[in-house]
Parts: sequence; structure tokens; C-alpha cells
Amino acid sequence: MEIRVLQGDVTEIETEALCLGIFRGTREPGGAAGAVDRALGGAISDLLRSGEFRGRRGETLLFPTLGKLPARRVLLVGLGERERFSAEAVREAAAAAANAALHLSELSTVVHGAGIGGLAPEGAAQALVEGAILGRYRFRKYRRDGEDEAPTPKLERLQLVEFDAAKVEALERGAARGEAVAEAVGWARDLANEPGNALPPEELAARAQALAREHGAMRCEVLTERELEAEGLGGILGVARGSARPPRLIVLEYTPPGFEGESPVVLVGKGVTFDSGGISLKAREGMDAMKYDMAGAAAVLGAVKALAALEVPMRVIALVPAVENLPDGNALKPGDVIPMGDGKRVEVTNTDAEGRLILADALVYARRYAPRAVVDLATLTGACIVALGKEAAGLFGNDAALLAAIREAAETSGERVWELPLYEEYRELLRSEVADLKNSVLGRGALPQAGAAAGAMFLREFVEYPWAHLDIAGTAFDVETRLYCPKKGATGYGVRLLVELIERLSRSASPPKG
Ligand code: BES
Ligand code: MN
Ligand code: ZN
Repeated sequence: MEIRVLQGDVTEIETEALCLGIFRGTREPGGAAGAVDRALGGAISDLLRSGEFRGRRGETLLFPTLGKLPARRVLLVGLGERERFSAEAVREAAAAAANAALHLSELSTVVHGAGIGGLAPEGAAQALVEGAILGRYRFRKYRRDGEDEAPTPKLERLQLVEFDAAKVEALERGAARGEAVAEAVGWARDLANEPGNALPPEELAARAQALAREHGAMRCEVLTERELEAEGLGGILGVARGSARPPRLIVLEYTPPGFEGESPVVLVGKGVTFDSGGISLKAREGMDAMKYDMAGAAAVLGAVKALAALEVPMRVIALVPAVENLPDGNALKPGDVIPMGDGKRVEVTNTDAEGRLILADALVYARRYAPRAVVDLATLTGACIVALGKEAAGLFGNDAALLAAIREAAETSGERVWELPLYEEYRELLRSEVADLKNSVLGRGALPQAGAAAGAMFLREFVEYPWAHLDIAGTAFDVETRLYCPKKGATGYGVRLLVELIERLSRSASPPKG
């Protein structure tokens, strides 16, 4: 889809369809909608007065202008309550508009919020483009064309129309950012949507390597089993033992020119390409969803893709421990004790708590970079879904400034986080009789306690730098409440948040020496 910004008057532009945003309960349209309403002899006010269009979030109405305007059609899109208006509302409205008329090849739209809505033009344009691109997203790789009940909208061109010439530059900047970010989110969705058979650890690594070849300033190194052994990364090796596919540790590095040798931000993503639970086998219902257990990996790789495209001035390294968790004669067994990357020994009381084992090794590996901050993203616990549902990722960490930056980035990006505590007392949950730590809290007959925090506490044992952990088990797939997310499948959660976070960190960091 081609995206451009046009300076002009909505009543004068020639286009297939002109999209106008309407707040809930509007009686007299103002701004661009008001001008179009007058040109149409009050057609819009008529629809509003009769209640045919109410401006509810995601509501759309397409009608022909019959020669009264150079625009051939008008597409009204609801912005929801004026008091709750935000960049997120713009994303949703844009997604609704992009899906309103599947046959349209061109849509010209007012940038909702950049006028009377009170948003900064750049952010509004970014949100609009993100919403339109992400709303149009479909994963259709394994389906033949035809008989598609939800085909990709035809939309080939999206034009952002602005009357005020002074705003055009900011809109162009925002639109370009939105395009780069949404493209990376789509890339991450594609990756996470791949079934387990198509994306074993080696293939996940190959995708990261292909990404590095496409972008300047990017390098990808992949540690094979032998190298993992040499590093002593027994968590990754242990989980991988039940699978016929060998594990990998993917190191994707983005270093902008002049930033060589700078202390990086390290992003760690859980890359379990399929999680059966291992010998602690999961129930059969819904086990197919465990193909998304590498959504954290998809998010951190996607974020690096966007950061490179935007040439963000910050050195960033994505670390992805990639494994498949299956039961087999060689698999880890409950009660096994394994050595971790830092020499600690872990009693594996539950082979289904595999994410923390591989992440712990990656977090140990991250120490060599003397990172300024490390953020890990992982579909880590069902308990986090119990706590927060699909509306926010669980946030944990050991550094107040980093946590505050993440909360702010979440606010701007619309990818919500909710902080949960890391009370010292939770450390008890991890105490093992036979080893330094145990990996799982669920004991025989015991009620599960603080499951998401226990996972985070386990990870905390392995970090030696400012660190935050995002449990994205709920937000990573099957989110039905966002109009720009497909109801089923990967959301790409984390890419937008991480891009926003790293941009913030890059603004507050001192520029490189030399
Ligand atoms: N990948 C799962 C967590 C998960 C569950 C993600 C549902 C998305 C949806 C993780 O590896 C897991 O199995 N966690 C266990 C931890 C427990 C054994 C301590 C869980 O949540 O039950
Ligand atoms: Mn598991
Ligand atoms: Zn898992």
C-alpha cells in the first residue's frame, strides 16, 4: 500500500473515497466534516440527526456523493467518545476504515485528531498509518485464493489530506514512522503465525539472518549446539533435549554508524517454536496455540527491523534463545537438575516451565555486552493471562527509571503494560531442596501462587544490570478487543512498545564519543 500526504481542501480533492472521522453523539459536524457536509447540502448532519450514523468506535458508513463533490464517495468512521479520544482511537478508526470497503483501491483521509482532536500531528499521522496497515493485515500464506470470508482489502493507496500547509511536514514524518513500524509489526505477526512445523529453531534463525542481510548496520550471529555447549548454556540445551530439532541462540545486532563499542540495549525474546510442555505434557485442548510461544522472539526481532529502518541512534542487540519443547526419550524429566549459563543449578520440577530456563541463559549471555538496559519479552505464564487478560502485558523489573520509561512508551504506543510486584518473599517460591533453585512453583496439590511473579523472580536471579521483563502471554495472540488486531492469530505485541522505548532512551542517552 502506497502512502502519501497531500496538502489541500477536502471539498476539492478528486478521490475514490474521502474518509471523515465523527465523534460519538456529534449533531453538527465541524472542521473538514463540516465543510463536506455543507458541500453535500447537509447529507452528513442528516445521517447524524436521524441516528443512521452515531460515531461509535469502529462504526463506518460509505455513501456516494453523486457529483456534488470531486470525491466520489464519503466514508464516515466513528471515533467513539470525544472524552476518551487518543492515538489508540485513531489506530482503531483507521483500521475500521481500511476494512469498510474491500473493493476500494484508494482512500483519502483526514488525519483524525490532528485538527480539533488535540493530538500532535506527527503522532496522529503515525497512529493512523499504523492502524490502516495493521487493520488490513491477514495471514493467508497457507490458504488458496477465492472463497475467502475475510479477504485483504484491495486498498492500494492511502492519502492523508491536510489543509494547513504548516502541518504537512510533521504529518509526512509521522506517516513514514507509522509505515516503518507497522511493516515491522506485520513481519513479526507473520513470523509468530508460522506453524511449529514450518518454523523450528533453525528456521527462526534463518529468518533473522535474512533480515540482517536486508538492512544496513545489522549483523546476525547464530550459536549452534556445539557453541551453546562451549558457553555452558545448559538451560537452552536442557529444554531442547526432547526435540529432534537442535536449539539455537540468535544474536541480531543493530549498530548505527559511530555507535560501535557503545553500551547497547539488549532485547531478549522467548523463542519456543512449539511448547508441548515436554514430559510435563500440556492438556490437548488448545495446545495448537503454543506455536505462538515464540511471539517474544518475533517482537524483539521485529523491533530491531523497525529501529534499523528508522535509523534510531542507539546500539540494540536482540537475543533469542530458540528451542522446541517436546517429550521424548532424551527429554528433561521432572526432578532433573541442570547447570545454567552462570553455573547455578536448577531443579526442573516442571518441564512446562521451560521459558524461564532458556531466558535465564540468554540473560546470562547478555552480561558480556555490559548493557545499559535489558528488556525481555516472553509468553511466559498462563497466570499472567489470569491476572490481566488480553489487555496488558505484565511488567516486572529492578530499575525504577527503566520501568517508568516503559510505562510512558506503553502510553504512547497503545501497547499497555501493568506493573506487578517482585516482593522478596516470592523468592521462597523458588527454593529447592536439592539445587540452587527450582523452576516451577506448582507443587502437588498446592494452589498456584503468584505464577507470573514467580517466573519473573526466577529470571531476576540471572540479571546483573537494569532489567525489565514483560510477560506477553495474554497480549501476543488472539486479541479480540482491538480493531487493528485480527481476532485470531498473532498481534505483533511489543514491536510498537519497544520502538517507542528505544527512541526515548536514545533521546536521553549521551551521543557516542569520537
Ligand atoms: N508458554 C507457556 C505459557 C503460556 C500459556 C503462554 C498460555 C500463552 C498461553 C509456558 O511455557 C508455560 O507453560 N508456563 C506454565 C508455567 C508453570 C508450569 C509454572 C504455565 O503457565 O502453566
Ligand atoms: Mn511451557
Ligand atoms: Zn512456553
